[in-house]
Amino acid sequence: MNSLRGKTAAVTGAASGLGRAMALAFAKEGMHLALADVDEKGLEETARLANCGSCRRVDVSKAADVDAFAASLKEVHVVCNNAGVSPVGPLWENTTADWQWALGVNLWGVIHGVRAFVPRLVAQGEGHVVNTASVAGLISPPGMGIYNVTKHAVVALSESLHHDLRVQGSPVGVSVLCPAYVPTGISDSERNRPPELANPALSERQKALKQNLRKAVSSGNLTADDVARAVVAAIKENRFYILTHPRIKGAIQARMEDVLQERTPRNPLAL
Ligand SMILES: NC(=O)c1ccc[n+]([C@@H]2O[C@H](COP(=O)([O-])OP(=O)(O)OC[C@H]3O[C@@H](n4cnc5c(N)ncnc54)[C@H](O)[C@@H]3O)[C@@H](O)[C@H]2O)c1
Repeated sequence: MNSLRGKTAAVTGAASGLGRAMALAFAKEGMHLALADVDEKGLEETARLANCGSCRRVDVSKAADVDAFAASLKEVHVVCNNAGVSPVGPLWENTTADWQWALGVNLWGVIHGVRAFVPRLVAQGEGHVVNTASVAGLISPPGMGIYNVTKHAVVALSESLHHDLRVQGSPVGVSVLCPAYVPTGISDSERNRPPELANPALSERQKALKQNLRKAVSSGNLTADDVARAVVAAIKENRFYILTHPRIKGAIQARMEDVLQERTPRNPLAL
């Protein structure tokens, strides 16, 4: 899609961080906004900053919420399945609730977005889907196994969606966003965790991992606005992979080589 002016973008996770920055970047392009999140106050603030946009409370892990969001829109051209949360590991200390929470938002949220919106984009013969994965969808850093699983799944889902659309001859575009650390609210994502999936307590190891994540996220050298600009460019150029942090490519290459050489995987954080 090379012209975005006058088109409508639906963005989940739009109350904060990358979702808010994408919404503001789309507004700058002259797009209409349909903003979704569980954080209604944050959503209203995004709409105020963008000076436009409709807001709706949507829990992306719930099929009915995402269906109702899609049904509420008269028009939609760009769909950003972006809402996400970030539990820490190690895997054997994670609870069933950790898995349900993160798979619900990070993976089911994207599944519901594709299911609810893509048939409509295909029928109108125009549109673009941006799924937010992470560089953790291309490498598997230690201490964040559940997150890695959800993000690898989002990369696989996005590649498969791209292939299915090409096989059908549909012009609908797909991008998968794979940033490294960007200062946002992601290391504090427990703030919107549903009480029924709460964890009684974090172990000492998990507390330390959370502290490390907070430090890494806050020291990210690209801003959410930089990432949002890369998303706008990728939609216009119909580019699939959005790798905003080129220095991480060495770790991706190392993983690919380890796979092809059938070597024991190297720790991507130690490369
Ligand atoms: N910030 C980073 O370093 C980074 C790096 C790679 C990928 N990502 C991904 O970017 C996406 C956006 O995260 P962010 O960094 O902007 O974090 P953020 O916490 O600032 O924003 C995430 C938003 O998702 C919303 N959300 C949480 N659960 C939800 C639910 N069930 N339904 C609807 N909305 C829900 C939150 O309320 C919040 O507004 C996520 O998918 C995240 O995994 C972030």
